[in-house]
Amino acid sequence: MKANVVTSRYVLPAVLQNVYQRPSLRLYTSPATQASSSSVQAKPLSEIPGLSSLPIIGPLHHFLPVVYRAEDPNPLRPGFESMVNYKTKDNMTVADGVFGLTILQGAQWRQFRTKVNPALLKPKLVKLYAPALEGIAKDMVERLTKLSYDYLENNFDVEMTKFSLESIGLVGLGSRLGALGDDMTDDHPARKLMKCAKDILQLSFKLEVGLSPWRYISTPTYRKLMRTVDTQWEVSKVFIGEARKQITERGHDIPEEEKSIIEKLLAIDEKVAISMANEMLLAGIDTVAFATTNLLYRLGTNPKAQDKLREEILSGDNNRRYLRACLKEALRLNPVVSANLRHTAKDHYVAGYHIPKGVDVVAPNEYLSKLEKYYPQPTEFIPERWLVEKTHPLYYGNAHPMVTLPFGFGVRSCIGRRIAELEIELLVATLVKDYLIRWEGPPLKIVTRIMNKMEKPYNFRFDRIN
Ligand code: HEM
Repeated sequence: MKANVVTSRYVLPAVLQNVYQRPSLRLYTSPATQASSSSVQAKPLSEIPGLSSLPIIGPLHHFLPVVYRAEDPNPLRPGFESMVNYKTKDNMTVADGVFGLTILQGAQWRQFRTKVNPALLKPKLVKLYAPALEGIAKDMVERLTKLSYDYLENNFDVEMTKFSLESIGLVGLGSRLGALGDDMTDDHPARKLMKCAKDILQLSFKLEVGLSPWRYISTPTYRKLMRTVDTQWEVSKVFIGEARKQITERGHDIPEEEKSIIEKLLAIDEKVAISMANEMLLAGIDTVAFATTNLLYRLGTNPKAQDKLREEILSGDNNRRYLRACLKEALRLNPVVSANLRHTAKDHYVAGYHIPKGVDVVAPNEYLSKLEKYYPQPTEFIPERWLVEKTHPLYYGNAHPMVTLPFGFGVRSCIGRRIAELEIELLVATLVKDYLIRWEGPPLKIVTRIMNKMEKPYNFRFDRIN
């Protein structure tokens, strides 16, 4: 019975902080452990020590590190239920009635994901966007270094979302959206998309925390979320329409590297293409902005790592191993989302306990990633840990592979990962090559939400060195 109640709730990151403090929380992911347990001896979920009396969410909610390895072929991820509710009950016309990956489940999710996987995840195909993205990185660096520090202190986040939107727009739709222009007023469509993405996250968080009267009556916050979902769709529909017009006018006979994601997907499935493009313009904004700012902050506060990175970039080494290690390390310390979620689609027997079908489980990856037992000097920014030999005490492989998962896990992991990494690496490489990044001020504050959030002021300084 308990399981049904759990299914109707979203796991709250704010609450997770309490959960994380519990010594009883361990990562049960070893296949050996799984195999050794059986349904005969298993204790029920309610007997898992320390998990039955969580504050705010009450005794009916139980959390366990997720049993990734025993995942269903169509893993279920809870969340964004208010949006699902709206699209299924109130307005089937949003995104032409086609849901995106974030909220699809089961076989429908699988069908959609199978169609879009190659275009978004194949490294060879994603790399083709590098030259165009490099152009955006250069424009962004020029912009960042001419804006005043007074302005950036309060608006660095806005500038980073302009960069991430412009980049994802280019990859997704094949054209520049104009987010980096000096003349971007509040009613510019790109600005509207940035605002919608932020508002959708904030409103979803509000609706899915604590009591949920919106399930029974339409509350003001629910209505506001719905209006925002509509606006996001209306605005992105215009950009998508323009992209399609351009494609039709110039024809399809162009080299593969010049084709945007939407163009590739239109050849497979029109509705999926439109829905994916729409979702990219939502999921690809704040995620990349946060991760980029986070990496710049770590470099600004770790001059030795920054020098080493600059050396790598100036050497012309295109593998960029150190840069990638820096990004991994920044995401280990401050991931965009603090935990990964799954909804069990079947019964699991783990470490002597029975986790029934139909409960939400959480892997508190941010917390785990900062434990000494997994990473020596866990709160230090040490990109080298991702590069040293197996025999070195810092070697990352001494941590369980499920501990640090900034892009999630398995077949349901982030579809935008490769694109995001490319965007971030190109911007950071372009900036570090010619500028010294400094952070002048107290440590950057990060607040836990559905997605982690940074607090102003942003004390970056960029000094030209080349
Ligand atoms: C640094 C940037 C990013 C981070 C850290 C990030 C992180 C994540 C995480 C943790 C998940 C959940 C995975 C899971 O449940 O196992 C996810 C899912 C997703 N991400 Fe990202 N993301 C980023 C950028 C992007 C971008 C640029 C896009 C646009 C294409 C995107 C689109 C999505 C979508 C559509 C899903 C749902 C996938 C599915 O359920 O099949 N993300 N992301």
